[in-house]
Amino acid sequence: MKILIVSCSLRKASLSRVLAMKVRENFEQGGAEVSFIDLRKVELPFCDAGSSYEHPNTIKVKQKVETANGIIVAGPIYNYTCNAACKNFVELTGKSWENKVVGFLCAAGGDSSYMSIMGLANSLMLDFRCLIVPRFVYTTGAAFEDGKLVDTSVANRVKELAFVTLSLVKAKVRDTYS
Ligand SMILES: Cc1cc2nc3c(=O)[nH]c(=O)nc-3n(C[C@H](O)[C@H](O)[C@H](O)COP(=O)(O)O)c2cc1C
Repeated sequence: MKILIVSCSLRKASLSRVLAMKVRENFEQGGAEVSFIDLRKVELPFCDAGSSYEHPNTIKVKQKVETANGIIVAGPIYNYTCNAACKNFVELTGKSWENKVVGFLCAAGGDSSYMSIMGLANSLMLDFRCLIVPRFVYTTGAAFEDGKLVDTSVANRVKELAFVTLSLVKAKVRDTYS
């Protein structure tokens, strides 16, 4: 099973990247083949619905999306939605998301933005028929100390996200090829 994790924060001390690293461990323990894209490290153009699609890095990340069975989007909540880097990544890679199982790990400043990822989830579901994992992790800085995830209930939810995502991916792959 191929899992792609996309870490969308451009912040050096990102908390969602800590969640992304944690879920990576969980997937690896579950026997998945994991690839990781850190948007802080990949220079991508802004989507212009034209030449940006031909950029070598766009082509590289698009291939990673295409070959994944499941994708975890880890990122910050900005202005009650995903951050612009995340949205740009989806705009650039578009149709390659078709039929993927997609889960979310969100870091936010406060508790009240917990439904903010739904706009992105809806668009992936309606535009690309993604199967959205109905269990996402949303947390604030309170779960971290010195850049480490210390809240065990959040750590368990990250683990559960990996488990449910893998189960859905396996069921979907079985269904497609049987
Ligand atoms: C431009 C901006 C907008 C933000 N908007 C929200 C918001 O709408 N709701 C919220 O709970 N936190 C908001 N935050 C706080 C971030 O979600 C929080 O700092 C989070 O830890 C960022 O994720 P990261 O640590 O992975 O970079 C915002 C932060 C910035 C810089």
